[in-house]
Amino acid sequence: MTLTTPHTDGLQVEGVALATLAERFGTPCYVYSRAALTAAHAAYRDALAAHGMRGRSLICYAVKANSNLAILDLFARLGAGFDIVSGGELDRVIKAGGRADKVVFSGVGKSRQEMQKALKAGIRCFNVESASELGQLNEEAGRLGLIAPISLRVNPDVDAKTHPYIATGLKSAKFGIDIEQAFDLYLRAAAMPHLAVKGIDCHIGSQLLDPAPAAEAVGKVLALTDRLAAAGLPLEHIDIGGGIGIQYQADEPAPAVADYLAPLLAQFADRREHLILEPGRSLVGNAGLLLTRVMVLKPGTDKNFAVVDAAMNDLMRPALYDAWHDIVPVAAAGKVGPGDTALPWEIVGPVCESGDFLGHQRKLALHEGDLLAILSAGAYGMAMASNYNSRPRAAEVMIDGGEAHLIRRRETVGELYALEACLP
Ligand code: LLP
Repeated sequence: MTLTTPHTDGLQVEGVALATLAERFGTPCYVYSRAALTAAHAAYRDALAAHGMRGRSLICYAVKANSNLAILDLFARLGAGFDIVSGGELDRVIKAGGRADKVVFSGVGKSRQEMQKALKAGIRCFNVESASELGQLNEEAGRLGLIAPISLRVNPDVDAKTHPYIATGLKSAKFGIDIEQAFDLYLRAAAMPHLAVKGIDCHIGSQLLDPAPAAEAVGKVLALTDRLAAAGLPLEHIDIGGGIGIQYQADEPAPAVADYLAPLLAQFADRREHLILEPGRSLVGNAGLLLTRVMVLKPGTDKNFAVVDAAMNDLMRPALYDAWHDIVPVAAAGKVGPGDTALPWEIVGPVCESGDFLGHQRKLALHEGDLLAILSAGAYGMAMASNYNSRPRAAEVMIDGGEAHLIRRRETVGELYALEACLP
């Protein structure tokens, strides 16, 4: 939320005017701040250090939140590991200079090809989500003459109290292994010749604002870990997933990472296992914004529509989850003319769906050509973008100490159909 700073030239990121970026790179355009990304990582590192966990923990950035190579490279340079959910994400991590031995592989469905690729790369751990996956992984490792390091993702049956689409910790979800059945499955895994049981993991959901459900889940995971140790199966690491929520709305009470983690880390005080975390959103969400320009104003009797050049294909979260992103004018506040009255606007994109909105009823004084910043768009923004309506995906720019770097150029329309072919 603090990504932008006001200036007489309008909003800036790290001292660079957003208006200048719009001129140089066009709109819509994602803008990230290296300083903000680094600070978000430091918040985790410092919280772990404060609990004496620095030397026995690994922050595995959840690549799905934003998989741009420049972002992966930055986190790799900061010493982070990575949480991946596909072979494609593994390729990105390696391409960006990440280390395979700091990669954990999550996901409820891994193909055999993906298993082979990750086995050959030598990843740190497969987070296994079913008995069937365990068997398939054992077979693939055997075929390659390798041992697969595994953890079981347990489903602790706790209510994460978040949007139902991103809650994963209830029995009714497709994710993880019922914690009641996990003990027996661990014994089976330990008996499989090509598997090495390394850890346990859980992830109960995303955009979590209250640490209580996660703390409850950790308690259940630790109890199972102790039961396994007593049965002669000690674990090396405990992976508590990601999920920490961020502030999307000026008045929203979002937890500081240190405060959220405190009741979780307290439970590790007298333990010996390594801790793995899989944060995504909280590392990148508030380090990015989506810059867009007002194309058309359509004041009406019922609603006022401001059609901007970003759309649901660029930022899907409002359409998919009814998610709120703060939308602020880029021009300096004083630039609003005397006759400009703020009206409630529907901020919408040009896509042919009524679900194509970025914000409802935003009270703003708008003119055609104005620039708007859609805030907190660094996570699950570009990562979920599509080419719907044959719209090339936006450019991505990273600001680093006063310099703007293009980290993904805007797609061309030709690239959108370059893989297609007509019948002979
Ligand atoms: N680990 C696992 C196994 C996950 O499934 C996820 C996210 C994470 C870690 C990272 O969670 P985070 O720290 O980012 O909350 N597209 C949705 C969010 C989907 C989250 C999917 N899993 C959104 O835009 O809100």
